[in-house]
Amino acid sequence: LIRRATERDLPEVVRLFATPDVGNAKNEIVSDPVHPAYVDALRSMTGDPNNALLVADVDGRVAGVFQLTIIQHVANTGAKIAQIENVVVHPELRGRGIGEKMMRWAIDEARRRGCFRIQLTTNKIRKRAHAFYERLGFVASHEGMKLLL
Ligand SMILES: CC(C)(COP(=O)(O)OP(=O)(O)OC[C@H]1O[C@@H](n2cnc3c(N)ncnc32)[C@H](O)[C@@H]1OP(=O)(O)O)[C@@H](O)C(=O)NCCC(=O)NCCS
Repeated sequence: LIRRATERDLPEVVRLFATPDVGNAKNEIVSDPVHPAYVDALRSMTGDPNNALLVADVDGRVAGVFQLTIIQHVANTGAKIAQIENVVVHPELRGRGIGEKMMRWAIDEARRRGCFRIQLTTNKIRKRAHAFYERLGFVASHEGMKLLL
């Protein structure tokens, strides 16, 4: 089941973001109770149809997480695109198709919302992740430029 994350999911979601092999893991604060910054961030997205934190729920357990944002363009004749970020599957549950399920859900949702493109960036060193996305049809057609602030 892919569904919007709730505040009850946050402890597990934060642990996923803090998984050592995840790019920005060092930015996370793992604590109990969960740091209020996470609660504020999730609350700020409540009811926003264009920005959602989604979890893969396997028998009530948070098995994976990703964020899907719909961006309205004025260009492209007022079209929309979808952006995927913060994709993580629990280390013990990788290789079972959960990541693929999450990404296919995101692609279907983007289509349903009328987006003409769905996109993401992945670190150049993540060769296995590249293979994962390429199998889903993503093409590494652009250089992702970043400026850390
Ligand atoms: C990438 C990731 C989301 C895939 O989820 P998953 O549930 O394992 O994926 P699936 O079971 O649907 O597909 C398996 C494929 O995912 C990729 N994969 C598996 N383990 C991986 C890992 N530790 N790191 C990166 N990619 C991995 C491989 O391409 C694998 O195929 P292979 O077994 O033929 O090599 C998951 O492995 C993960 O959370 N990795 C760490 C964080 C990450 O790399 N996030 C994406 C960065 S944008």
